[in-house]
Amino acid sequence: MPSLRGRRVLLGITAGIAAYKGAELARLLVKAGAEVQVVMTPSATEFIGPLTLQAITAREVRQSLFDAAHEAAMGHIELARWADVVLIAPATADVIAQLAWGTARDLLTTVCLASEAPLVVAPAMNQAMWRHAATRDNVAALLRRGVDIVGPAEGEQACGDVGPGRMVEPVEIVAALGARFGGGRLAGRRVLLTAGPTREALDPVRFLGNRSSGKMGFALADALVGQGADVVLVAGPVALPTPRGVERVDVESAQQMYDAVFAHVAQADIFIACAAVADYRAANVADKKIKKDGTETLTVELVRNPDIVASVAALPQRPFCVGFAAETDDVEAYAEHKRRIKGLDMIAANQVGAALGFEADDNALLVLWEGGREALENQPKPRLATRLVDLIVERFDAQTTAQDS
Ligand code: PMT
Repeated sequence: MPSLRGRRVLLGITAGIAAYKGAELARLLVKAGAEVQVVMTPSATEFIGPLTLQAITAREVRQSLFDAAHEAAMGHIELARWADVVLIAPATADVIAQLAWGTARDLLTTVCLASEAPLVVAPAMNQAMWRHAATRDNVAALLRRGVDIVGPAEGEQACGDVGPGRMVEPVEIVAALGARFGGGRLAGRRVLLTAGPTREALDPVRFLGNRSSGKMGFALADALVGQGADVVLVAGPVALPTPRGVERVDVESAQQMYDAVFAHVAQADIFIACAAVADYRAANVADKKIKKDGTETLTVELVRNPDIVASVAALPQRPFCVGFAAETDDVEAYAEHKRRIKGLDMIAANQVGAALGFEADDNALLVLWEGGREALENQPKPRLATRLVDLIVERFDAQTTAQDS
């Protein structure tokens, strides 16, 4: 069984008799570690019930383009962006024609048109339909555009004909997908990541904290898994679900984050410090709630916390180190200074302040490394994370190649 660990497969099922094999296909994809979102054409539901596929994939099957509730949750464009690969199996002659012509008449074809993910098509139709000049032209058009056509197989057909047109078996489709998309650019690599805020206790009920929601770091963890990495996420206190396939370690304070990072860093190939770590903590934490006692001012002595990312970067055997810089002004100059004094391979700088960076759903980054820079425009954090991971992989690969030669 190939590994599709962390891969997001959008499985399109169209109206052929082989649609019943969609259940087995979905089961094998899930078994291979993929996250599977099924999209069915309306007629496909005549051949297999959406509930069966929902039970197998643990995701509600999407069927309609005009579904207000679903569009509000994950619209068709988000669905198109979500997929690492779109697989249509079985693909009827009709859907192949629609793909060739670029029509967007239902949810599945609209998603295909809107998606930049690779498209894999497993045709299934009567042998005469497969041999028809129109289908041949349509298939040729898809092949020219880089679409992967898996099959069809030859043999006895449901209609009694014998010839090419049977959908290849689900196990072969999963093998083909594994060969093309298994692994990912970080397959076999271990990534350690911090995210969210830290809390520095003042007394049993109060703490010093910050506005980090963890959204940026959690999106990164998700994107890293999508590239096949083994991810350990050291998270400050945030109200976010753990991304699929991620090992999560929850901490509160900067010292706890430091300890958790150092418990895992020896195994890491890449360390990414996205957490907003408190630079200071209270010198003495009161063991009882601090009372006002009629005083108008309160003085708290603060002491420096260890700098986690700088400490990791100073290790003799160190992972590739990526830091973040949260700046309100002069972003590039401060970020580059931080990159140098902390000894980082790369830094991702973001402007923070009113409705920027912290807590927001969108973000923009200026990524700096020795001799290079790239600005990533304002966009939803999950997309931004995917772009940042691509940059990290490029720089990490370049460094690894240089060290090996
Ligand atoms: O969580 P969100 O709401 O999605 O917001 C995302 C974010 C704005 C928090 C994120 O994009 C970000 O900028 N994170 C870093 C915030 C920060 O603390 O920046 P800094 O400039 O203070 O620190 C520089 C780097 O040193 C960071 O990589 C930080 O993790 C690290 N650091 C800082 C202090 C410390 N004691 N240890 C550290 O490792």
